[in-house]
Amino acid sequence: MTEHSPTDTLVEQIEQRRRRIPFRYRHLAGFTLVCTYILMLLGAYTSAIGAGLSCPDWPTCYGTVVPFLHPEIVASAPYTAVQIFAEWAHRGLAMVTGLLILGTTLAAWRSHREHRLVVWSATLALGFLPVQVVLGGLTVTQSLRPAIVTSHLGVAILILLSLQTTTLAAWYDAREHQSPPQ
Ligand code: HEM
Repeated sequence: MTEHSPTDTLVEQIEQRRRRIPFRYRHLAGFTLVCTYILMLLGAYTSAIGAGLSCPDWPTCYGTVVPFLHPEIVASAPYTAVQIFAEWAHRGLAMVTGLLILGTTLAAWRSHREHRLVVWSATLALGFLPVQVVLGGLTVTQSLRPAIVTSHLGVAILILLSLQTTTLAAWYDAREHQSPPQ
């Protein structure tokens, strides 16, 4: 199905395309926000079940990327499989969420360059990301030092707030650009 009629000028075609992008963008931003929220809940769960050090090294877990491929490692660890899984899954989801934050920011610069709040709030979230990854690593290597665990939670909240701003601003922008009903 072609979306352009042969009589459309190039400018009209570009404008139609530009209008479609914000529709997709706000869903990407919302999805990234939800993933970040779930990641934070998983982090809180990891902490609550005392699994913060169940992967004692970083960035690997017992010197391997997937400890569950080595049953002998899990069997001899001083933590349960559930504890190891929670910490390992938190790290894995952090990697996926990090890529989503990167994608959300790059897409903001591509499709919302003129909407400062969308672009800068997404960029802020991306700026916090490396800080959060380093704090996550230090959480483990510094054996859950209270100042580091607290900073890790604090930066997580800042990332969530930045992404919430991006998502709300993108939804507002899409509503503003909606064509009036014919
Ligand atoms: C965008 C990335 C990340 C976010 C948003 C995030 C968020 C969180 C949150 C909200 C908590 C719960 C804190 C609390 O209850 O006090 C947590 C716990 C934790 N996170 Fe992350 N995290 C991220 C990445 C990482 C990475 C890359 C690591 C690497 C090892 C990591 C390691 C941990 C550990 C070990 C805990 C448990 C701390 C404890 O036992 O008290 N996090 N995370």
